[in-house]
Amino acid sequence: MPETSSGTPPLAGRVAVVLGCATGIGAASARGLAARGAHVVMGDIDAEAVTRTASRIVDGGGSAVPIACDVQDEAQIAMVMQRAIERFGRLDILHNNAAAMHLVGEDKDVASTSVALWDETLAVNVRGQMLGCKHAIPHMLAGGGGSIVNTSSLSGIAGELTSTAYGASKAAINQLTRAVATQYGRKGIRCNAVLPGLIRFEGERPAGRGLPPALRETLIRHQLVPWAGRADDVANAVAFLAGDEARFITGHLLVIDGGMSAHQPFYADMLGVMEPGT
Ligand SMILES: NC(=O)c1ccc[n+]([C@@H]2O[C@H](COP(=O)([O-])OP(=O)(O)OC[C@H]3O[C@@H](n4cnc5c(N)ncnc54)[C@H](O)[C@@H]3O)[C@@H](O)[C@H]2O)c1
Repeated sequence: MPETSSGTPPLAGRVAVVLGCATGIGAASARGLAARGAHVVMGDIDAEAVTRTASRIVDGGGSAVPIACDVQDEAQIAMVMQRAIERFGRLDILHNNAAAMHLVGEDKDVASTSVALWDETLAVNVRGQMLGCKHAIPHMLAGGGGSIVNTSSLSGIAGELTSTAYGASKAAINQLTRAVATQYGRKGIRCNAVLPGLIRFEGERPAGRGLPPALRETLIRHQLVPWAGRADDVANAVAFLAGDEARFITGHLLVIDGGMSAHQPFYADMLGVMEPGT
């Protein structure tokens, strides 16, 4: 467990809600926050999987409470925040991470986008994060402040051949992040976003998910480092933004992509033609 110089875990006594944390990045975030001493209330639509993930955290000595919830539903989000207050007495950290990832495979170009897919993607990805902020902020204000981290994506900052609804939802999250940071900064609430690039998963994944190897290789060719990101790479950034070490950082969109978005568009084509030192 990471410790501060005084030997106390950096998030000791803090109360965190993580929404969308049964698997993947959210599960790593819940583990990371708990490992740093936070009590973690874990909301997810997959009741069985979130219970399993929370049990593993508790078995490892952490504090985690699973709650089944659908982030599209305002009453359910309010209930999750209320449960955090009833159980732990305060709310310091929110990680808004849920996304309708099961729809991404069908999310193509705009002419092929159905209204149903568009609406569900935005309802889960954007309305869910708005509701998370809306219902966490009053509790954070009552405790004197807090830190919100929204999971966005590289898909929210550049055009793609597919993922029309997903990309639009992530661009909306970027703006939601700046709005919340602007509106509540003076009251002690910081709000930032993490924008992951290619993240590789070990262990539990929903069936049929994951990129074909050829596509993965193409994406890695466009990174500056030759390895894929891991869920913990994002979780470590979330824990940093959630804690006091990031006290002067708000309204920031933190790209976590191995450099994929840092270079000229022709970078990958130049490899082998114009390598450094040649
Ligand atoms: N995996 C990547 O490479 C990548 C890249 C960029 C951004 N992201 C973002 O990271 C976040 C996590 O993605 P992931 O790849 O870990 O996928 P994931 O499917 O493992 O995680 C999404 C979680 O959200 C939950 N969820 C889905 N709909 C929900 C709802 N209506 N209510 C409550 N919970 C719900 C799922 O059950 C799951 O636990 C998402 O916001 C995604 O857009 C992922």
